[in-house]
Amino acid sequence: MIPAIRGTHDILPNEVGRWQRLEAVIRGLCERYGYQEIRTPVIEREELFAKGTGETTDIVQKEMYTFEDKGGERVTLRPEATPSMVRTFVEHGLEQYIPTVKLFSLGPMFRYERPQKGRYRQFHQLDVEVFGISDAMLDAEIIEMASALIRALKIETSEIVINSVGCRKCRPRFTQALLDVLGNQLSRLCDDCQRRATINPLRIYDCKVKDDQSIIDALPHSVDFLCDDCCDHFQIVQSQLAVLGLDHRVSHRLVRGLDYYTRTTFEVLGSKLGAQNALLGGGRYDGLVAQLGGPDRAGIGFAAGLERLVLAMPEQSSVATPDVFVVALGEDARQSAHLLVRDLRNAGLTALIDYDARSLRAQMKRANKTNVRYVVMLGDEELARDEVTLKDMESGVQTAVARKAVVQRIAVADKETSD
Ligand code: HAM
Repeated sequence: MIPAIRGTHDILPNEVGRWQRLEAVIRGLCERYGYQEIRTPVIEREELFAKGTGETTDIVQKEMYTFEDKGGERVTLRPEATPSMVRTFVEHGLEQYIPTVKLFSLGPMFRYERPQKGRYRQFHQLDVEVFGISDAMLDAEIIEMASALIRALKIETSEIVINSVGCRKCRPRFTQALLDVLGNQLSRLCDDCQRRATINPLRIYDCKVKDDQSIIDALPHSVDFLCDDCCDHFQIVQSQLAVLGLDHRVSHRLVRGLDYYTRTTFEVLGSKLGAQNALLGGGRYDGLVAQLGGPDRAGIGFAAGLERLVLAMPEQSSVATPDVFVVALGEDARQSAHLLVRDLRNAGLTALIDYDARSLRAQMKRANKTNVRYVVMLGDEELARDEVTLKDMESGVQTAVARKAVVQRIAVADKETSD
């Protein structure tokens, strides 16, 4: 056997129902909030993420699947969708065609991380992005949309955490204060943090090393260094969340592990997920579009990990059960049974048949295993009378039904039970 690659996973038939429900909820929600779907390639130039996600992030430094293709180009399996969405917005000049550019996308992402519950090397995200709107009301609306997603999925316990990381104007004052407070304690931090201190001190907050945490917890808070505009923006986001009735916690540690964020950052945390508890995360990135060669446009969005949402969704029977199983004995009956399953399927019913021409008992056993609602039995006797035997598997009642009436009879009964 050649096993699947570590950190990747198959979505099996008994799980796929949950995924389909999740995707249906997502599509409905995105439509109601005015988002249009786009699909971008999973493979992009390495440079897009180096510039977009940021050279100093763990993603770019340690986690990207990058290789040289046969033409000598450095390409990367996307670790996140935001840079691709920005590229698409710029490359296709989307703002010329769409009045408010609100986009969503669903698909696989790739990060070479240590696999554990809720953390994979190939995982899936819903990504949501809005371009061209700086108003703080939108920040609150996006957080409200994220929270509506969690509610729609009936995920019961979750927490909204927010922060503001300021803008280009006020960030330098904050990072200087951070380095001042750190002072000679810097040498007590891990090697990664020492590197972060010289290239992007904000990234020190991403550190997961246990021994570093007491030092990092005592560092200054970005919200205490915001310029007037960032301060007003953050106030409006918070008061708007209050208007929308959304409880939230401000966490100064929430700088998020990507370089592009400005002002608002947020996450929704779930309780059932253990260490990997972020169901979704996002924020504003007002300089990124220009940085990636586009016009100077604001940007904001979030991404949700679909595996984590599936894990957090309440259990529900998700195995789709077929409507009818056709059991046939004898060659002539098998011929007729094949026509019958075709007719049942054409009538919109899910119909199965046993292909191996085995005993009645073996076929009935297989039918039982599928939890089917009706079994139709066809043998020489039934054929001679142009009838079938219809068995309701719930009540156990068997009835003889004319061959030409059986499809209609099951379709009506099926409609009555689903109404
Ligand atoms: P992120 O926080 O890196 O943000 O990822 C968003 C979500 O993807 C996480 O909250 C988590 O649910 C899921 N996720 C991340 N890594 C993994 C993994 N290895 N295995 C399973 N799930 C994972 C971004 O990706 C940004 N692009 C979000 C954004 C959009 N910001 C603005 N717009």
